[in-house]
Amino acid sequence: MSERISVLLSEAEVDRRIQEIGEQISRDYEGRQVHLVCVLKGGSFFMCELAKRITVPVSLDFMSVSSYGMDTKSSGIVRIVKDLDDSLKDKDVIIVEDIVDSGRTLSYLMEMLRDRAPRSLRLCTLLDKPERRLVEVKVDYTGFQIPDKFVVGYGLDYAQKYRNLPYIGVVEVDKEKEE
Ligand code: IMP
Ligand code: MG
Repeated sequence: MSERISVLLSEAEVDRRIQEIGEQISRDYEGRQVHLVCVLKGGSFFMCELAKRITVPVSLDFMSVSSYGMDTKSSGIVRIVKDLDDSLKDKDVIIVEDIVDSGRTLSYLMEMLRDRAPRSLRLCTLLDKPERRLVEVKVDYTGFQIPDKFVVGYGLDYAQKYRNLPYIGVVEVDKEKEE
């Protein structure tokens, strides 16, 4: 199988936008501490870059859920692979995601984390594909709204590849070359 990647959002564009979101969060949470919850693995690159640009005190935690297999289509199954280390009780929590697509993962996660009694719970995503939404999700901070294309880079993968690309690219799979 072979894939072609074309640039959708350059490294400079992504960096600039993350800086803006970092500034926005720093203003919104002035005088407080934010607890960033990264959804692995896709959210990790975004969370690190975002955390560096937040000027209020930050703590971090990680969790891993799975809703996709090796394919580019959602299986519809949301499974907790790794839970958080720390309690969310009375914390100002921001979930940091790579992308909101159908919304299934996030609506499930938000509900589950709300039950853990954080003082506040918000959602920050680098990318949003609103056309693909099947389940309503309230997104508080969005990097970019993008068209219905399968994207990689900046933490997002195609069959575990391309997470390390420093930009966001669109994947085109060359079907004829599939084995
Ligand atoms: P949702 O539950 O359909 O919103 O999907 C959420 C997860 O699917 C994301 O956190 C990604 O891991 C994955 N995903 C959705 N769209 C893409 C994409 O275009 N590229 C890579 N991963 C994606
Ligand atoms: Mg993800």
